[in-house]
Amino acid sequence: MKHLLSTADLSRADAIRILDTAAQMAATQSREIKKLPTLRGRTVVNLFFEDSTRTRISFETAAKRLSADVINFSAKGSSVSKGESLKDTALTLQAMGADAVVIRHQASGAPHTLAHAGWVDSAVVNAGDGMHQHPTQALLDAFTMRRHLVGRGAAGASITGDPTGQDLAGLRIAIVGDVLHSRVARSNVHLLHTLGAKVTLVSPPTLVPVGVETWPCDVSYHLDEVLAETAPDAVMMLRVQRERMSGSGAGGGAFFPNPLEYTRNFGLDGRRLALLPDHTIVMHPGPMNRGLEISAEAADSPRAVIVEQVANGVAVRMAVLYLLLAGDASTERAGLE
Ligand code: CP
Repeated sequence: MKHLLSTADLSRADAIRILDTAAQMAATQSREIKKLPTLRGRTVVNLFFEDSTRTRISFETAAKRLSADVINFSAKGSSVSKGESLKDTALTLQAMGADAVVIRHQASGAPHTLAHAGWVDSAVVNAGDGMHQHPTQALLDAFTMRRHLVGRGAAGASITGDPTGQDLAGLRIAIVGDVLHSRVARSNVHLLHTLGAKVTLVSPPTLVPVGVETWPCDVSYHLDEVLAETAPDAVMMLRVQRERMSGSGAGGGAFFPNPLEYTRNFGLDGRRLALLPDHTIVMHPGPMNRGLEISAEAADSPRAVIVEQVANGVAVRMAVLYLLLAGDASTERAGLE
């Protein structure tokens, strides 16, 4: 059985194949009839143990646009609240004949367990596990960067369609904020490195993970310096994950930062936007804390591609489901584990 669990598992060829397939899927989404018959008769289960808006809805949309049957499972209101285990939940899904399980879970490694414990025969797609990985978010981010930043003319950003077959070599990407708790940052660092981009993480020292020096990226604690010195092609702001922090720092969680200090040192606002090259795009995986890590002026500026990221998520997830479920040969070539 084949799965998508981590961007660390994807080779350059794997990633480019997914992005190219997503470009084909995106082209079908501008047609009057968006639905494709590709996954007719297949069943995709969205198994969400953690809250989600964008990921859950876009996986559902992607599966339906490919004509799959979709079952949405939310832990809230299910027998999980009565103490049912992941194993017994998985066995129930197996009994219902799921072909793919898209799982979001608060525990890092839960999708890996589901994929390899022998409880289900289906393909497993990681839709975000704890602070570990969110591979389809990184793929949709790379897809968005490629559309905006690859193949630009000398005059700047002129978008001439999808530059299929190309990686992100030479791009400079700043990922800013709460790296410690961010599966989006981890997924992006691996994928962007694989695709040839140079990543700089910018974060307060308290929100940098132990072991970050082994990651394939630079680390800085000074946002203004990074914006001025690296002239990034994309600035990706990360959400401050209040729900994974404690007020006091007790219990092993990081302290919630002083909001005013955080915004002053690490927030993207109009002043910092003005430091960026004209072609630089502003990204955020959502949901945003407006006024904390990003100002309304930055979030709503013409440089912001945040809503487009959401739209691109449907095409990328269509590509992933297609490559996993529609044909062994293509799945092999896509390198989806
Ligand atoms: N980016 C992201 O994962 O958003 P959701 O939590 O709304 O799915």
